[in-house]
Amino acid sequence: MGSKRELLFITTNQHKVKEIQELAESESRNLTIVHRNYEYPELQLDELEEVARASAKYLQKKGVIQRPFLIEDSGLFIHALHGFPGPFSAYVFKRIGNEGILKLMAGKQADERRALFKTAVAFCEPDRAEPVIFVGTVEGSIADEARGSGGFGFDPIFEFGGKTFAELSTEEKNKVSHRSRAFRKLLAFLS
Ligand code: IMP
Repeated sequence: MGSKRELLFITTNQHKVKEIQELAESESRNLTIVHRNYEYPELQLDELEEVARASAKYLQKKGVIQRPFLIEDSGLFIHALHGFPGPFSAYVFKRIGNEGILKLMAGKQADERRALFKTAVAFCEPDRAEPVIFVGTVEGSIADEARGSGGFGFDPIFEFGGKTFAELSTEEKNKVSHRSRAFRKLLAFLS
């Protein structure tokens, strides 16, 4: 049996680490995800792919990480709000939270509540000049009210298959989430 390959996951978000570590454990026998807590600037760009790419290149250029690593950027895109908050999700969540989103959605009916979660993962390794980007999405809708105590961020208001993501275990969320879909593409690439 060969030794396990280590991949650093650069993030300040412990919830994301838990999701990705569980997923790697259940879906890959030879990959270990190791958390590193480096801060990096997140540019306000229109596309999550470009945000993830710019963050990865910043870390590559700084030269602080001499091993294979990944970073990711995620966002919530609400159809009736023309994709808002999208790449500005972190800022909007900090300023108005789930309550604020629910207020913006007041009076909007079934189809108008459709929303998309998206993750862009950027994978880097020392002898690769450009980060490789993997994208995952999941279509759901904005719930009428916040429900559930699991997860983080917009999970209590993002509904998929009758439940909010905050009502799912990490294992259940990983079956369908944007993040897991992007990460599975990375796993396929690595194998
Ligand atoms: P970022 O990828 O950390 O920049 O995420 C942007 C915003 O979306 C933050 O407010 C996160 O809390 C939120 N967010 C990212 N991923 C998820 C998720 O899987 N569920 C719920 N909220 C998320």
